[in-house]
Amino acid sequence: MCGIVGYIGYRDAYPILIKGLHRLEYRGYDSAGVALLAGDHKMNIYKSKGKVSNLEESAASKDISGHIGIAHTRWATHGEPSTLNAHPHVSQNGRLALVHNGIIENYSNLKTFLEGKGFTFKSSTDTEVLVQLIQFIQDEYGKDLEGAVVSALRRVTGAYAIAVVDKENPDKIVVARKSSPLVVGIGEDHKEFFLASDALPIVEYTKQMVYLNDGEVALLKVGQKMEIHTLDNEDVDPKIKEVDVNLDTLEKGGYEHFMLKEIYDQPRCISDCIRGRLLADEKKIVLSAINQHRDRLLRASRFIIVACGTSWHAGLIGKQMIEQWAKIPVDVEYASEFRYRKPVIQPGDVVIAISQSGETADTLAAFELAKERGALCFGIVNVVGSSIARASDTGIYTHVGPEIGVASTKAFTGQVMVLTLFALALGHELGSISQMEFEKYVTELSLIPEKMKKVLEQDALTKDISRTLTYARNALYMGRGFNYPVALEGALKLKEISYIHAEGYPAAEMKHGPIALVDENMPVVFVATHHQLYKKILSNIQEVKARNGRIIAIVTEDDEAVKNIAEATIEIPATLPVVAPLLSVLPLQLIAYHVAVFKGLNVDQPRNLAKSVTVE
Ligand code: AGP
Ligand code: GLU
Repeated sequence: MCGIVGYIGYRDAYPILIKGLHRLEYRGYDSAGVALLAGDHKMNIYKSKGKVSNLEESAASKDISGHIGIAHTRWATHGEPSTLNAHPHVSQNGRLALVHNGIIENYSNLKTFLEGKGFTFKSSTDTEVLVQLIQFIQDEYGKDLEGAVVSALRRVTGAYAIAVVDKENPDKIVVARKSSPLVVGIGEDHKEFFLASDALPIVEYTKQMVYLNDGEVALLKVGQKMEIHTLDNEDVDPKIKEVDVNLDTLEKGGYEHFMLKEIYDQPRCISDCIRGRLLADEKKIVLSAINQHRDRLLRASRFIIVACGTSWHAGLIGKQMIEQWAKIPVDVEYASEFRYRKPVIQPGDVVIAISQSGETADTLAAFELAKERGALCFGIVNVVGSSIARASDTGIYTHVGPEIGVASTKAFTGQVMVLTLFALALGHELGSISQMEFEKYVTELSLIPEKMKKVLEQDALTKDISRTLTYARNALYMGRGFNYPVALEGALKLKEISYIHAEGYPAAEMKHGPIALVDENMPVVFVATHHQLYKKILSNIQEVKARNGRIIAIVTEDDEAVKNIAEATIEIPATLPVVAPLLSVLPLQLIAYHVAVFKGLNVDQPRNLAKSVTVE
């Protein structure tokens, strides 16, 4: 999920690799490394935790010669951020070096197999398993590098973009991809090749690019055309694209802001989040966290969710799911209140901390208080190896990749997806949800990434609707049931990036105060997708209409009733009510984004806000 750079040609590789890693820094990472083939069959490896500048310091006085090299910025998924776990990883015989973006899902089985063949492992990463597997295949079957890579990848389940070099054959780089991006830059007359996770580190050297497709393996050798094969050993003709974009927009993948990129990344990020966990064909959910702490989780007397901001909103959705499917009571607490309130925490309690950054001070403090009181601490975190992750007895990483924009978007849907899987799996283990119900949800969840894409296709309509909000001074967001936390999240998004005062409310609360605010100047955004309270929210909408409120509604496709009342509606595909938040939040993210852009505000770094609130 982070960054790869490689070079083979007539230039010194090191400067190209380091500059390329700097160009990829925006993607967020926790460590970096480089492998250089320095001639005479020598290979130099330099790695460091933290910034690329730390890597440069560690290599400063060392041998950085060589015209072939690969480099990596890591976003840890397996094995905490450390120099040892940083890439490149080296084969046991010291010959091969490999860098990898993605997740080797079946690394544990492969590791056991290789240990049985006498391999030992230095790191706790999934990636190291792959480089050892390639060596094993070379040793066992006498294959060349490209043949061994193909054979190894046939045994791998997961997502990868890889680059591999062999110091005994210092005239080639082998690359491959599946689900994680990889692009190759072609130098003049094939005198040199560049490779990277995106075009940014390459575009200043060549505009001739080949974007590898899933399941393709390529051989880069100076002086000859790039060879591409599929894992079935079919030849593929390289499709060369002329890429000429400016460096700034390329950093954001062509989007104007990181926030918009991350909103649009959600279908892919949710696919990453469920990969290896939601097995739709087998109608199974596999969460190692439940297997490891089965008794304490199944016998939990109560779950206490502690979080802040958007993560707290995700917790409100998680509460409804856990109580509905697992029939275990859930309290959702602002971490900042919980930690000082002298809360009652009993040993049978399970405390869930939800945090994108894993560094939010209040959430960490609340979590540590729970640990002191003997509760099982369960982390739902995005940043591997973060403080909250390390404080967890167990947990589930959201695996949505680095979130750069201060306003949380893909992290929220990742948290909601993880909570959904957790609640469903718990209910299924407890037998408190029928097999048929369970399978119905498993199937629907597997369709969410495609349904998210459909919602995002309405961005132009959403942008038009957002224009009408640009000069609003206040806004109300209303929802019921599972959509109530979505209304809160939509209001927070608008508040934090457009600086418009927006409040989220349970729609039925209108009559207990907020309806006094409604007039022709008050936009009221209703999250009114189909669910058992739909008719009631319809009445709430009519109450606002009767007072000339300006109504914008998020509805289920083909909804006519709301359409006849509202000023504007945005449709989401039909889905099961409980999982609708994964779709209904998307238009609200886009509305907040477009209003902030119309107002000319700093979308990615809103005033007064930090991405991670590491202070009280
Ligand atoms: C949400 O858009 C904000 N960035 C903020 O509310 C955030 O959710 C909150 O600070 C919690 O951060 P965490 O998930 O990293 O703990
Ligand atoms: N899964 C690998 C690791 O944790 C690669 C992570 C990445 O894409 O940076 O080391």
